[in-house]
Amino acid sequence: MNTPLLSVENLKVRFPVKRGLPWKAAQYVHAVDDVSFDIQRGETLGLVGESGSGKTTTALAVAKLINSWEGVVKLNGTDFFSLDKESLRLERANIQFIFQDPYSSLNPRLTAERIVSEPLRQLKNLSKKELAESVDDIFDAVGLRPEQKKLFPHQFSGGQRQRIGIARAIISKPQLVICDEPVSALDVAVQAQILNLLRDLQKRFNLTYLFISHDLGVVQHMCDRIAVMYMGKIVEFSNRMELFNSPQHPYTQALLSAVPSVDRKRRERVQRIVLSGDPPDPLNPVPGCHFAARCPSVDESIGCLKKFPPLDTVSESHQVACYRFKR
Ligand SMILES: Nc1ncnc2c1ncn2[C@@H]1O[C@H](COP(=O)(O)OP(=O)(O)OP(=O)(O)O)[C@@H](O)[C@H]1O
Ligand SMILES: [Mg+2]
Repeated sequence: MNTPLLSVENLKVRFPVKRGLPWKAAQYVHAVDDVSFDIQRGETLGLVGESGSGKTTTALAVAKLINSWEGVVKLNGTDFFSLDKESLRLERANIQFIFQDPYSSLNPRLTAERIVSEPLRQLKNLSKKELAESVDDIFDAVGLRPEQKKLFPHQFSGGQRQRIGIARAIISKPQLVICDEPVSALDVAVQAQILNLLRDLQKRFNLTYLFISHDLGVVQHMCDRIAVMYMGKIVEFSNRMELFNSPQHPYTQALLSAVPSVDRKRRERVQRIVLSGDPPDPLNPVPGCHFAARCPSVDESIGCLKKFPPLDTVSESHQVACYRFKR
């Protein structure tokens, strides 16, 4: 097998929290807890999970925009975390982000043209003419009109602003594009346009995406493989077909049961699973499975409350972390 574009091994991120008396030992939010995955060139890997499950933190740690506690991240086989400052700056340009809220992630004082060209200015000594040509090409590729180059972010609609965000992310032809909830702030009709645009651009420029979303409907449309996260852990990892056809983890099953479907047969087959209970306190992770407190199939006799279950193989392209799977 080829070296993956990105490989993440046993990534852990903890945030110190000040609480209580100063002489008490520091407490930590275990935001990402022993996460491993890889991404092949040209594919889209989805990270799904509810709010606070550690998706954004994983993405930021991968690009070393925040420090990790433990773990190894390799881009093209090179250890990203061991690079010196200048090499890191250059390598980091290979990873670009598209954020959820295109308004707050675009500088309101710069024109669209200036925003989009920024990554190229930082990287290469291009002439004015070359820079202008690159901007023209990318404006065309993302469906913006040439005369919109001189406008400021507030003069665009939400969908158009996201097109600017996408243009900025891909103008320097990065190897990995991290899309963090890229359509969550948009209304449904515009969501579909932006998702289709991302797919077209992927084919055209052979892009690789790490695609973060809490919406399984969106993930189903976009991703080749999917990692389901719960409280900082990957609980299920699978190719799209298997995940949607035979989800193994009770959490994935609950998430999937909430996805609206136009397929009557599927609606009849899949009963909506409503989860009760609260997730555990991220400051004091429980010793067993993090999902146990809300799991409809929790069973003390098989170890659910003792130790977090390891990822078990369901098939060549499908793994699940659940003791119930082996039963
Ligand atoms: N800078 C920080 N300091 C302290 N805790 C943080 C920080 N950033 C994130 N966290 C905590 O880490 C955990 C994971 O947060 P993260 O933002 O990665 O979740 P997420 O899956 O991206 O959620 P969402 O869907 O809401 O964007 C949460 O418990 C969050 O409160
Ligand atoms: Mg997030």
